[in-house]
Amino acid sequence: MNKVTVVGAGNVGATCANVLAHKDFIKEVVLLDIKGDFAKGKALDSWQQASVDYYSTQIKGTDDYADTADSDIVVITAGIPRKPGMSRDDLISTNAKIVTMVTKSIMEHSKNPIIIIVSNPLDVMTLAAFNASGLDSSRVFGMAGILDTARYRAFLATALNVSPKDIQAILMGGHGDTMVPLPRYTTVSGIPVTDMIDAEKLDAIVERTKKGGGELVKLMGTSAWYAPGAAAAQMVETILKDENRIFPCCAQLNGEYGLKDIFLGVPVKLGRNGIEELIELNLNDEEKALLKESAEHVSAVIDVYKKMNVG
Ligand code: NAI
Ligand code: 2OP
Repeated sequence: MNKVTVVGAGNVGATCANVLAHKDFIKEVVLLDIKGDFAKGKALDSWQQASVDYYSTQIKGTDDYADTADSDIVVITAGIPRKPGMSRDDLISTNAKIVTMVTKSIMEHSKNPIIIIVSNPLDVMTLAAFNASGLDSSRVFGMAGILDTARYRAFLATALNVSPKDIQAILMGGHGDTMVPLPRYTTVSGIPVTDMIDAEKLDAIVERTKKGGGELVKLMGTSAWYAPGAAAAQMVETILKDENRIFPCCAQLNGEYGLKDIFLGVPVKLGRNGIEELIELNLNDEEKALLKESAEHVSAVIDVYKKMNVG
């Protein structure tokens, strides 16, 4: 019997729980928020959608960690989102404390869960959760690459007038403006994307992808939730169904790509044990340089986190 907890019943957390309910294969989804009855309301609303959209998964809303006991997977979305003019990194002072506290509370009630981090700044919040959890790094990782790749695929689909379903792509690096979309690893139904679009247009799409989160913050005054919530739900589904699918996720690097002491977006195989395998691509010099630049950016934010001493 699978049990999934989503912490943070705001835009991303409630969407993730709702998408999971629609997938209709999980026994119990617990939605927890610090804001009194807020999660209970979201859960009740979702249950009232069940007969319309035809699913049986019930979401239990709560503000009590006892209800999260023995979760197989915990998705952490708790924290503040950015407002126009803010970078994801500006959230660190608030969110590092929240993510640390949430992870510790989760670990009091679940022995060996898999934890998926969504809260920003993503790469550093994944490190914070790893530190607070005491879990193996194959069980603590972050969601960003699926979202960033989805944005890249959406922009390509529009430019090429094809279905986003047919675009396969991979993207690496930190969840920020230094992320590294990889045109060399992008295909449209197996056809190299570079055969289908001219270099200038592709460059513009790569640049738009890097700033894709900021584009939405400008439009809405807060950050996105439909694609982020669905992306986290896709990771949960892949793990619980033991599918061994390959996605870009924020994972701990121990020398892979010449990097260590860092959590960064890389392709991984996701299955029942979390990260089953970390995949090392044969990057060319230009791609390696971009990844290094992204890692340096994330390391600078890690330094800020370390100075905070949140434990
Ligand atoms: P939101 O403000 O709609 O929801 C956050 C929720 O967290 C609120 O309901 C709040 O009450 C709750 N919360 C705060 N402190 C808590 C605590 N200690 N325990 C339990 N719940 C707590 O924000 P939204 O839009 O859902 O974003 C959540 C986080 O996800 C933000 O940090 C945002 O930057 C990040 N994000 C990350 C993405 C990614 O790709 N990794 C994509 C989109 C958002
Ligand atoms: C996003 O990329 C803000 O990380 C969030 O939409």
